[in-house]
Formats: sequence, C-alpha cells, structure tokens
Amino acid sequence: MNIRQIHPEDCKAIIEAASDWWGRPYSSDMFSKWYIEHFQDTCLLAEEDGKIIGFVMGFLSQSKPNEAYIRIVMVAPSRRGKGVGQALYKEFFKRVGAAGRSIVRCVTAPANKNSIEFHTRMGFIVEPQEQELDGVPVCLDYDGRGGNRVLFKKGIVSSTYEGSL
Ligand SMILES: CC(C)(COP(=O)(O)OP(=O)(O)OC[C@H]1O[C@@H](n2cnc3c(N)ncnc32)[C@H](O)[C@@H]1OP(=O)(O)O)[C@@H](O)C(=O)NCCC(=O)NCCS
Repeated sequence: MNIRQIHPEDCKAIIEAASDWWGRPYSSDMFSKWYIEHFQDTCLLAEEDGKIIGFVMGFLSQSKPNEAYIRIVMVAPSRRGKGVGQALYKEFFKRVGAAGRSIVRCVTAPANKNSIEFHTRMGFIVEPQEQELDGVPVCLDYDGRGGNRVLFKKGIVSSTYEGSL
C-alpha cells in the first residue's frame, strides 16, 4: 500500500471510487478540483497496484490556528479492517502536526457505529453534549441544516511549522 497526496487530476477517480463504495452517485463540494487544489496538503489517498483503496480529506483550520479538521475518510469495503484507515490517519496526523496543529476534530452521524468504533480506536474522544442518542453524546443540528453529529476530538504531537508540509 502506498499513501500519497491527492492531486486535482485524481478528482474523477476519487468520485468514481466513492460512488462505487457508497453504492450510488456520491457528490460533494470537496470532490472537486478546486477543493483538492486548495487543500491538497491535507488530502491523502491510499493505493494498491495503482488503484485507490481509501482516502482522507481534511484541512488546517483558518479560524483555529492549533486545529485541523477531517472532513471525510473512506476505505474500499473489501479493504476495511486491514489498517488502511489507520495508515491514512497516521499520515494526516504527521502532516498537520508538522504544520503546528495540536488538535484534530471530525464528526460522524450517530447511526455510524463503525465510524464511532474506528475513531475511538484511533484515540479520539467523543465530546460531551447535553443530549444522548442510543447512549452516545450527540450535537443537535451540528451543520445548521438539521444534521445531528457525534463530535470527535484528539490531541496530537505538534511541531514547529516550517513553512511547508
Ligand atoms: C471507518 C473506516 C474509514 C475505517 O477504516 P478501516 O481501514 O476499516 O480501519 P482500520 O482497519 O485502519 O482500523 C483501525 C482500528 O479501528 C478498528 N476498527 C475499524 N473499524 C471498526 C469497526 N467497525 N468496529 C470495531 N473496530 C473497528 C480496527 O479494529 C483497528 O483497531 P486496532 O488498531 O486495535 O486493530 C471504514 O470502515 C469506512 O470507510 N467506512 C465507511 C465510510 C465512513 O463511515 N467513514 C467515516 C465517516 S466520515
């Protein structure tokens, strides 16, 4: 398995892979050349024999200079449970730590128990909330569009930012 930065020319292959794994067309603003162009230092893919088997897309927060945010992580169904997600996260943590970030945040849907297990194993804590759903603290209307989310937070080792990742 090779892990590398995503480039704008990977956009089509990422959309195809995500749609294939999701089982229906998967569209999102982040699956666009402009997103990848501006956030590619924190967008990584895992490949095997030239084929994409997983990816993580995130960014360095502008408003919170010690934080990074993971927008999405996906691994090919046939490759899950084999360390691909963990390898992607380790490289992401290394990169954002090198950029001076000491906190990584991400969220997931309350129903996504696999994601909650994965993030817990990766050392994230679930941020306490006033409400719980199925025993899990949930932030209501997290996105301002009615979407409830479980909020994760992890501290990482940060080093001095030297100007590039
Ligand atoms: C969540 C996801 C990215 C995990 O990737 P993965 O490659 O299967 O995870 P890994 O094999 O690297 O697992 C890392 C650790 O998490 C644990 N883990 C992963 N999935 C788990 C699950 N469903 N239940 C329990 N533990 C799990 C592994 O056992 C491993 O722990 P270990 O180091 O103690 O062995 C993958 O299941 C996926 O793509 N899901 C669909 C998309 C999604 O829901 N993304 C998250 C929301 S944006």
